[in-house]
Amino acid sequence: MAHLLITGGAGFIGSHTCLTLLEAGHSLVVIDNFEGSSPEPLHQVAALAGLGPLEQLATGLWGTPDEPRQLLLLQGDIRSSSDLERAFNSSSTAAVEAVLHFAGLKAVAESIAEPLRYWDTNVAGSRCLLQAMATQGCRTLVFSSSATLYGLPDSVPIAESAPVRPINPYGHTKAAVEQMLADLAANQEGWRMARLRYFNPVGAHPSGCLGEAPFGQPSNLFPLINLVAQGQKPCLKIYGLDWPTADGTGVRDYIHVMDLAEGHRAAVQRLMNDPPQLLTLNLGTGKGHSVLELVRVFEKVTGRPVAWEGVERRPGDSACSIADPSLAQEVLGWATSHSLEDMCRDGWRWQVSHPHGY
Ligand code: NAD
Ligand code: UFG
Repeated sequence: MAHLLITGGAGFIGSHTCLTLLEAGHSLVVIDNFEGSSPEPLHQVAALAGLGPLEQLATGLWGTPDEPRQLLLLQGDIRSSSDLERAFNSSSTAAVEAVLHFAGLKAVAESIAEPLRYWDTNVAGSRCLLQAMATQGCRTLVFSSSATLYGLPDSVPIAESAPVRPINPYGHTKAAVEQMLADLAANQEGWRMARLRYFNPVGAHPSGCLGEAPFGQPSNLFPLINLVAQGQKPCLKIYGLDWPTADGTGVRDYIHVMDLAEGHRAAVQRLMNDPPQLLTLNLGTGKGHSVLELVRVFEKVTGRPVAWEGVERRPGDSACSIADPSLAQEVLGWATSHSLEDMCRDGWRWQVSHPHGY
């Protein structure tokens, strides 16, 4: 079992993946600056993984010192080479074998308002991380990319060979990092990297102890449906009832966050086992669901009504985004196992037990 560095491991997808990796027997060091999260999810992860409580070991460093499977948490920034050096050397017993890189900013509208901030964290941060990896002699990386790269796709399902045509600064930063990884793979030996293009991650750990806790106002559909069902928001605004889809609302490929976490476990295992290579894989279910379909399934599963009204289309949205996940299934031996009902049930359990996040 390996010692892994997880950037952004206190966030939504990172925290669920940390749990899956610990359950698979790996030891972890997480680096997170808590810009979009807090240490709390990692306390939950430690408990769910059956580890002792996280104790403060030094300034900005917490851990489970007496466990054979280590979980270390360092408050630090991926744009700081000294913070990264500290993360790489935080375990006295093991060297970091691979990095899973989740840290970043992800809100499309915010990226339009503050493009330089997005280039700084997502692109300069990734460059700093890659430099630290090269310095430390660690050349195995799983990168959180996004289906946002495909922009307005010509057709669905979308294969990895579809053109990369992002339409907002967030998407441009993901494309830039993907290119940085391709340049490394083409020109330096020994890099083992996976660019994982997620479709629409939703849901929560089935315990209800881990989930999505967006800072500020959420803009994604799934958290908003939960807030309306709970009475924290009066009404869901559906962006367009006139899309060229079966019921006129936008269609997306929603993937349960635990399936996504399992995809990361499989990807890092594959990279560590195989010769150097660059993988580019879609992580989605291959099934599309419209906004109204998601609302109806959510209402059925939770017994809660979700009030909605149709409004103008949101600029930059596409009618339909569905993954062709066959390459990931073939290369990783991975497949999703959670239904839309599971996503709604698990997401709602989290929402009810944590109405205001952690
Ligand atoms: P999140 O905001 O919950 O987690 C990101 C984490 O990174 C947070 O804990 C934040 O504090 C941390 N972070 C931000 N800047 C940092 C920095 N400079 N140094 C250290 N830590 C920093 O987001 P998420 O939903 O878990 O997304 C994880 C990754 O997956 C992101 O790179 C995102 O772009 C990508 N992604 C997310 C989605 C989605 O819909 N959630 C879809 C596709 C891709
Ligand atoms: N929608 C509404 N009302 C809302 C929010 C969303 O009708 O209040 C609709 C959208 O129009 C779209 C669907 O719900 O049809 C999903 O929208 P989200 O905002 O939840 O997700 P997107 O597909 O727009 O984008 C998300 C992330 C991107 C990421 C992409 C693929 O925000 O960063 O998934 O992973 F790149």
